[in-house]
Amino acid sequence: MSEPGRLQDHPNWKYLLQEFDTLYRNGSSGGSPAIRSHRKRVRDRLSSSMRSNPEVLETPCTRLPVTAHLARALDLGERGAMQGMARSLREVSAQLEWQYGYEKLPKALVKKYAFCEILGPRGPVMAENLIIGFVLFAPATTYPQHSHAEIEESYISVAGSWSENNAA
Ligand SMILES: [Fe+2]
Repeated sequence: MSEPGRLQDHPNWKYLLQEFDTLYRNGSSGGSPAIRSHRKRVRDRLSSSMRSNPEVLETPCTRLPVTAHLARALDLGERGAMQGMARSLREVSAQLEWQYGYEKLPKALVKKYAFCEILGPRGPVMAENLIIGFVLFAPATTYPQHSHAEIEESYISVAGSWSENNAA
């Protein structure tokens, strides 16, 4: 079990965050200026947070029904282009606090959805202006359309396939 401390004392969290830094540095914006500037904001906030050697909280390891699919998702991720991310995530998988997050979770998602945070105002790695985490979906899940008024959000697929608006 890890001791509470700073990021430099928690190499596994640090390596995982470095994977995000690499992704937001080297990935494609698909030619979109909005996505390009979003990606820059993410990596600026992430590097300034990492440079500050932030506090790391010891969060409880919690599981939800969908986390029964996590090992398989990591296996798939480790075979693909996101293998570095999948491997780094596996190293902290016993420390993840999986949660639902919606005030009223659609019943269909109870067994099929959860998310966990890696960095943000609630920890485990403390940061004020950025949240980084993972969402886990069971196979054949429909995630309801939604939007956020006050935040920007981006998703990158680590494992599995998905479609939006019936497009591949
Ligand atoms: Fe969202």
